[in-house]
Amino acid sequence: VKQLPLEGKKVIVTAGPTRERIDPVRYVSNFSSGKMGYAMAEAATSLGAETILISGPVGLDKPSGLTVIDVESAADMYEAVLAHFDDADIIIKSAAVADYRPKEIHPQKMKKQTGDSVIELERTTDILKTLGEKKTHQLLIGFAAETTNAVGYGAGKIEKKNLDYIIVNDVMDPDAGFGKETNVVTLLSKNGTHQPFHAMPKKELAFMLLKSIIQEESERINDR
Ligand code: PMT
Repeated sequence: VKQLPLEGKKVIVTAGPTRERIDPVRYVSNFSSGKMGYAMAEAATSLGAETILISGPVGLDKPSGLTVIDVESAADMYEAVLAHFDDADIIIKSAAVADYRPKEIHPQKMKKQTGDSVIELERTTDILKTLGEKKTHQLLIGFAAETTNAVGYGAGKIEKKNLDYIIVNDVMDPDAGFGKETNVVTLLSKNGTHQPFHAMPKKELAFMLLKSIIQEESERINDR
């Protein structure tokens, strides 16, 4: 019987946006729907992996056959990822994590004021960069959403965050990015390989991306 390529592997996938609270009724977030991350988690599971999907707030049905951990903020996501990181073989960071959060969370609903208002923001922890510093045997795969020079900035992030792969979407392409059913991406590896994928449904793309990575990593994946 032919074994599935990710059998015996533990895969963590993050998906969706994070929400950073301003007060009890308001938050800062982005347009990620979770579709790309859910597709990656389902594809990894179909390829035999034991998958943990760490999901920000999305409106998607929970996929079966894998563990879903729901989180809200970048800080929650960080904690959930770190709790499972040591045991993981592959980490895929499809989530659109907020880079900034309100410096203070108002305990009461903020009242309207006359004139303008300013919300001060502070940086969140870069989860992927932290994993890049901690990683030992893990294969670390990031995503990047860029509006200009997608491939150039993507390659820079591989180095800066110590990644094995980055999947870059040009979110200005009408068939790509946040909320869409389809995506258009380029898979870049730390070895300098560079593989473009044309527009296709995120579910189909997720399989093609994983198969491509499994092929490039076949020795490493089979050794573990
Ligand atoms: O969810 P969909 O609607 O299907 O849309 C899919 C998507 C466009 C959100 C997805 O394909 C995607 O590109 N996700 C990453 C978006 C992003 O946050 O890119 P970035 O260039 O800002 O971040 C680069 C990487 O660092 C990402 O892997 C991100 O998860 C990670 N990061 C970023 C900030 C932070 N504080 N911690 C992180 O780990």
